[in-house]
Amino acid sequence: VRVDLVELLRCPLGGGPLALEVLERDGDEVEVGLLRGEAATWPVLAGIPLLRGGDGEAVDLIRAGDTATATALAVVRRTPLSRLDAVVPLLADLRPARPLARRVAAARDRGVARRTGIVLAAAVGSPDPLLRLTHLDNRRPNPEGYHYFRYRLGLPRHLVALGAVAAARPGPEPVVEVGCGAGHLTPQLQALLAPRRYVAVERDLDLLWVARRFFAPAADHVCADATALPFADRAFGLAVAVDVLSFVEAKAAAARELRRVLGPEGGVVLTSLINAAVRHEYAGWPLPVAGWRRLVEGMPSVALADRTVLDAYLAARAAPGSSDGGEDLEAARTVSLLAGEAALGGAGAGLAGWPHALGRLGPHPLLRRDAGDDESTVLYRRVLPSESFAADNPDLDRYLPERLALTRAAVDQARAAEPGRVPAVLAAAVARVAVLGYPPGWPGDPWGR
Ligand SMILES: C[S@@+](CC[C@H](N)C(=O)[O-])C[C@H]1O[C@@H](n2cnc3c(N)ncnc32)[C@H](O)[C@@H]1O
Repeated sequence: VRVDLVELLRCPLGGGPLALEVLERDGDEVEVGLLRGEAATWPVLAGIPLLRGGDGEAVDLIRAGDTATATALAVVRRTPLSRLDAVVPLLADLRPARPLARRVAAARDRGVARRTGIVLAAAVGSPDPLLRLTHLDNRRPNPEGYHYFRYRLGLPRHLVALGAVAAARPGPEPVVEVGCGAGHLTPQLQALLAPRRYVAVERDLDLLWVARRFFAPAADHVCADATALPFADRAFGLAVAVDVLSFVEAKAAAARELRRVLGPEGGVVLTSLINAAVRHEYAGWPLPVAGWRRLVEGMPSVALADRTVLDAYLAARAAPGSSDGGEDLEAARTVSLLAGEAALGGAGAGLAGWPHALGRLGPHPLLRRDAGDDESTVLYRRVLPSESFAADNPDLDRYLPERLALTRAAVDQARAAEPGRVPAVLAAAVARVAVLGYPPGWPGDPWGR
C-alpha cells in the first residue's frame, strides 16, 4: 500500500480515520503494517490493507512477528475446509514452505478455514496452481469457476467492460473498481481512465494477491467488502464493477456504498448484470432489469443489453447513451448500467485504438495451436473448455473466428512489439479479438502454447 492511500481509507466499523504503523517497507510501498482506527486495528499484509473484517488473528500474528503465517491464514480464510485438505499435503512437499504448512495445518485444526495455495503459487511463479487448488484439486471441484479465471481474457464480458468504461468521462478524482477478482481486466480499465488513481477492491485475498503480484500491479489494492467500503465519503469520481453485483447478496447495501463514496458529479458503471428473467447456470443472485435499475434510482442512467455494448465495441465505439436500436433489454442475458454524468459523458464516442490490445500481445486464450503448421504459417483452432462455458458465452460467435492462420513473421513482430503497439499485419486479427493484450505479469510467452 502506498502511504498516501491512507488519506482515502476509513475504518469500516465507524467511518473514522486510520493511522498507519509501518512495519516493513519495499521502496514506496508498505508491505506489512497495522492500520489503527478508533475501534479496531486492521492488518496490512503482502502490501494489501485488509479492511473486510475478521482478520483479528492476523493482527495478533503480526504483533508477534509472524508475518508469514498471518499472510497464509488471511489468504485462505474464506476457503471451505473441504477445499483446504488438498492444499496442506502439497504445501508440506514444498521444502521452503514446510514449516509454514505445518503451522497452517495446526491453524486449520483450530477450526479456522484456510486457503494456502498462495504459497504454492509463490513457489512456481504462476497463479495457475493457486486457481487449480482452490477450484479443481479438492473434494468439491468447481471446474466452471476455474474456467472463468483460466479463460478470463477476451470473453464478451471483457469487451463489454471496456466498451462501458470507454463511455465514462469522470473528473480527475480517483476511480474505484469493486470486485476486481484476480485483476485480469484491471490494467486495460486503468489505462482507459489514466492518469487517475485507480483503487482495486476485492473481498477474497487470494484473488487480490494474484492481482497485485501478477496481473494488475499498477493499481492500489484494498481487501474489503462491497457492502462496507472502507473509504471516505465522496472520495471517488467513478465506481466500476465488472460482473460482480450478481454475486453480491446485499445489492442494495452495495449500491448505497458505491453512491456514498462518489462525489456529487460521480458516475457508476456496472456491467454484465445477470437478468433473472433469463435462465443461467451460474447466476449468483440475479435481478430482473427493473431491479438492477432501482439500484441507481435518482441518477441519470441508461440500461443497455450487454450485446448492444458488445456490438458497439466491435464497431470501435464506446457504449451508446441510449438503448434505442439495440437488443431487447428484457430478453437480454446480461445488462450494463451507466449512471451519472461522469459515466455517460463519452457515450457512443469512437475508440482510439483497441483497448483490448493494450499490454503484451498474444493469441486469444481460447485459440489452441492446430495441426498443419508449416515453415511460414501458424494455425489456431477455437476450443471451448465445456458445454456450459459455450452456453454462457454465446456472443463469442460475434467476433472470435473458429480458425486463425498467422504467418510466423507476424508472430515474430507481435512478440517484438512494444506493449500497446499493434503491428499492421495483425490489425485484422486484433479487430476480431483473435489477438489481444495480456496483463503485465502473465507468466510465460502467450505465443508459446
Ligand atoms: C465473477 S467475479 C468477477 C471478477 C472480475 N471483476 C473480473 O471480471 O474478472 C466476481 C468477483 O466479485 C467478488 N465479490 C463477490 N462479492 C463481493 C463482496 N461482497 N465484496 C467484494 N467483492 C465481492 C468475488 O470475490 C469475485 O472476485
